[in-house]
Amino acid sequence: MPNIVGISGSLRRASFNTSLLRAAVEVAPAGTTIEIASIAEVPLYNGDVEAAGIPAPVQALKDKVAAADGLLIATPEYNNSIPGVVKNAIDWLSRPPSDVPKIFRDKKIAIMGATPGQGGTLLSQAAWLPILRTLGVDPWFAGRLGVSGADKVFDANGALIDDGVRERLKKFVEGFAAFCQKRPT
Ligand code: FNR
Repeated sequence: MPNIVGISGSLRRASFNTSLLRAAVEVAPAGTTIEIASIAEVPLYNGDVEAAGIPAPVQALKDKVAAADGLLIATPEYNNSIPGVVKNAIDWLSRPPSDVPKIFRDKKIAIMGATPGQGGTLLSQAAWLPILRTLGVDPWFAGRLGVSGADKVFDANGALIDDGVRERLKKFVEGFAAFCQKRPT
């Protein structure tokens, strides 16, 4: 059964995207594990820092993603695109380039997202496409999950309180978990 690493693209304590990931853990099918990995300790990318050695939080994240069957990213949308913090984390994961095959090649990846706005993060999700292509991942596009009006979908503690979204999330996670068990084509 698949072991999936989940990354939220928000550092905010009350992040809707982190709440969406936590809800994904709850609805995951039996035998599927989703481990939420934080990007909070990943420093800003700096080639000088890299030359001195990959920082420990980056290496730990690289090891987790390399060992996982799948990577599930919950992306916010900032100015119709990807927040810098999560792009920064992905950029670090792609260093050095010789490690890219180990971390990303044929890695099963799904993107979902939540926003209090009405666009469901779909523009941000689309902005991920060239990155996924560049890294040579095996993206899952059969399902799509964009949560709009997130301030009404989660309560003040971050619990998912919308049954319709729970059902959509469950189908999405089940579909991705099944995809994670397929061999690369
Ligand atoms: C936003 N937000 C936002 N929302 C959206 O749907 N489309 C957008 O283009 C933007 N742009 C944007 C820019 C910046 C700089 C910020 C800080 C915010 C609102 C965003 O969806 C909201 O802050 C979410 O709560 C962010 O996700 P988390 O932190 O709740 O996971």
